[in-house]
Amino acid sequence: MKQYLKFDEWSIIEEGFDPENHEVSESIFSIGNGHMGQRANFEEDYTGKSLQGSYMAGVYYPDKTRVGWWKNGYPEYFAKVLNSTNWIGLKLEIDGENLDLAKVPVREFVRTLNMKEGFLERSFIASLPGGKEVQINAKRFVSIVDKEIGAIRYSITPVNFDGELKVTSYLDADVKNKDANYDEKFWDEVTKEVTTNTASVTVITKKTEYVLCSTMKTELVHDGLKVAFSPEVSEKEKYVAHTFAHSLVKGKETVIYKFAANVTSRDHEASTLSTVAMDRLQGALAKGFEKMLVEQAEAWGEKWKESDIVIEGDVSAQQGIRFNIFQLNQTYTGEDDRLNIGPKGFTGEKYGGSTYWDTEAYCLPFYLSTADPKISRNLLVYRYKHLQKAIENAEKLGFTDGAALYPMVTMNGEESHNEWEITFEEIHRNGAIAYGIYNYVNYTGDKSYLGEYGLDVLVGISRFWAQRVNYVPAKDQYMMLGVTGPNEYENNVNNNWYTNRIASWTLEYTLSAMDYLKDTDKARYDELQSKLTFTDEETSKWVDIIEKMYYPYDEELGVFLQQDGFLDKELIAVKDLDSKHLPLNQKWSWDRILRSCFIKQADVLQGIYFLNDEFDMETKKKNFDFYEPMTVHESSLSPCVHSILACELGYKDKAYEMYLRTARLDLDNYNNDTEDGCHTTSMAGTWMSVVQGFGGLKVRNDQLILNPFIPGEWNSFSFKVVFRDALLNIKVTADTISITNETAATTPVIIHGTKYTVNGNDTLSVQY
Ligand code: BGC
Repeated sequence: MKQYLKFDEWSIIEEGFDPENHEVSESIFSIGNGHMGQRANFEEDYTGKSLQGSYMAGVYYPDKTRVGWWKNGYPEYFAKVLNSTNWIGLKLEIDGENLDLAKVPVREFVRTLNMKEGFLERSFIASLPGGKEVQINAKRFVSIVDKEIGAIRYSITPVNFDGELKVTSYLDADVKNKDANYDEKFWDEVTKEVTTNTASVTVITKKTEYVLCSTMKTELVHDGLKVAFSPEVSEKEKYVAHTFAHSLVKGKETVIYKFAANVTSRDHEASTLSTVAMDRLQGALAKGFEKMLVEQAEAWGEKWKESDIVIEGDVSAQQGIRFNIFQLNQTYTGEDDRLNIGPKGFTGEKYGGSTYWDTEAYCLPFYLSTADPKISRNLLVYRYKHLQKAIENAEKLGFTDGAALYPMVTMNGEESHNEWEITFEEIHRNGAIAYGIYNYVNYTGDKSYLGEYGLDVLVGISRFWAQRVNYVPAKDQYMMLGVTGPNEYENNVNNNWYTNRIASWTLEYTLSAMDYLKDTDKARYDELQSKLTFTDEETSKWVDIIEKMYYPYDEELGVFLQQDGFLDKELIAVKDLDSKHLPLNQKWSWDRILRSCFIKQADVLQGIYFLNDEFDMETKKKNFDFYEPMTVHESSLSPCVHSILACELGYKDKAYEMYLRTARLDLDNYNNDTEDGCHTTSMAGTWMSVVQGFGGLKVRNDQLILNPFIPGEWNSFSFKVVFRDALLNIKVTADTISITNETAATTPVIIHGTKYTVNGNDTLSVQY
């Protein structure tokens, strides 16, 4: 943990340059627009430690896997989001000296991520050999209006000298992934075009054959006036550049504007890419940097209108939550149903940029409540489109007849993870995908989704569960053997309570979705029945499983057992463990972890969170009191679920403690791993802690329910939610909840059990 960033409500600010923090800052100050994103690498050369990263959404490479003992059923590859063309590069020489912050003293360094308006800014004064001082201010953004454009304004002012500036503005596609398994480069060159006006490089990924064309134009403005110049052009493999010279005058500002269009064959015909890129570039040049920046600020303003959370009285909490919302909105914008949310977003390579159960279990609620429903619908359609691959994935493992096992980690629907205990055993992910459908339909009321796409997926998943359980005649019960629950610190266990419960719940929900469709749209039901060929015999088997599913439970303690035999372990609370053992995943051998009682992340409690209404308060309390003390929260996804349940149980201090563990996880580098990238999916969990935890927001029977309580450290907090046709701004103080309806749609709400109506464009205030 390290706190070196300044507290501010709307910006992330780093003052002073410490190379030790640079890779962490590169992650934190990342920018993205759903189409592309990049780490906060410097534009000018930097020879210190840095992870160069520029990523294009959905462009990946199936890197040949590395594995110890090969197991049948393993996928051949691990998909990786690709480090792609570095379009920001500006090499600067001043009187023959290269500007490189690893080599020259720097003062007045400030790096700012302006979250309100969506840009990254950096300013500093560098002292060059011979005492020359130069002041730099660099501003850049990737546009959320013109998504294929990135733009830079790079200003240079000599403080105490006149001199010669030499600039090389380049596009470099000769880049590598740090996490490449065999140190290979994943891009091949297709073509380059360099004129004295623009320069472009087109590259193609090996194997997957994604084509990326980047085209740039560099402009020069001196003392407010545009300067015409004719650059020297140069090129080498996968690299193009413009080099030009300019006389710097003491105290006068010279500005370099660099625009780059990055277009891919995911969105356009490969043969048209250079024309499209040029067209996009011309559009950006016609607007100019300043106008684009104004549009950027306006577009971010619109996003904040729907998704902001305001916390009064705690600037660090305010900054933390806005940072999380900002990163989520930078990562996934929802227009493209082929895209999803990688655990690191566009901020690093770890986890391969692939899709995990994190999306349905943690991210979906954020997009449901803060954006148009079609955005979360697209997250669901993504899985619908992968259904066939999920069926093939299950077939590889021996399942039949349309049983679908969604992958633990995927880019294109195929499994790309190969640790047997995860790939083959962490099958609870299938349940989260079914739960995502429920969550979407429940929140939005869009039941049409079930007939259109939902039922296909639910039937596939249900078929998997029905084949994965085994019936034990002696006990007249169904069991599920050899699984890994959400708590990855246990592998190959029998009857993980959560997995058994979510499996059975999926069967229940699928049957109810079938009944709903049969009653409301018989024609579509019949169509799906003949397409999916489900029979009464099949569904009666599901009913039998629901009725006879085995759930490990301890009568005396009144708790669901995480798995068979859990109580045979030595039960120790984390607080009784010497802190020198923590984090366990760095200090203990894997077998010691597996034998211990310690829990990585919510497991039984994940089920209690998802299926909350099924359990009475006493059951929730007993399970929370039993499991939370043994939980080490070594997944960033863990604290949020605990915070939400603690809120419900009235454990105020615990709720706040858990909230703090997620809220500034990356800003304070809590787990000492932010240099790998930010924990983007767990950021959605932080949002859940505020809205579902402190706000107590639920939707049941088409009604919005709020059970707010405010942490003692805050004066008030308010959050926006899109619910059905209304946009509500909900503010909670120590004793009052006020709901301002920013739309005309009258909305009923239930606050701590009492029903109220919020009229259109009106405010309801209730003492609670
Ligand atoms: C967690 C998983 C999660 C993955 C990606 C792991 O550490 O245990 O639940 O899906 O990280 O975020």
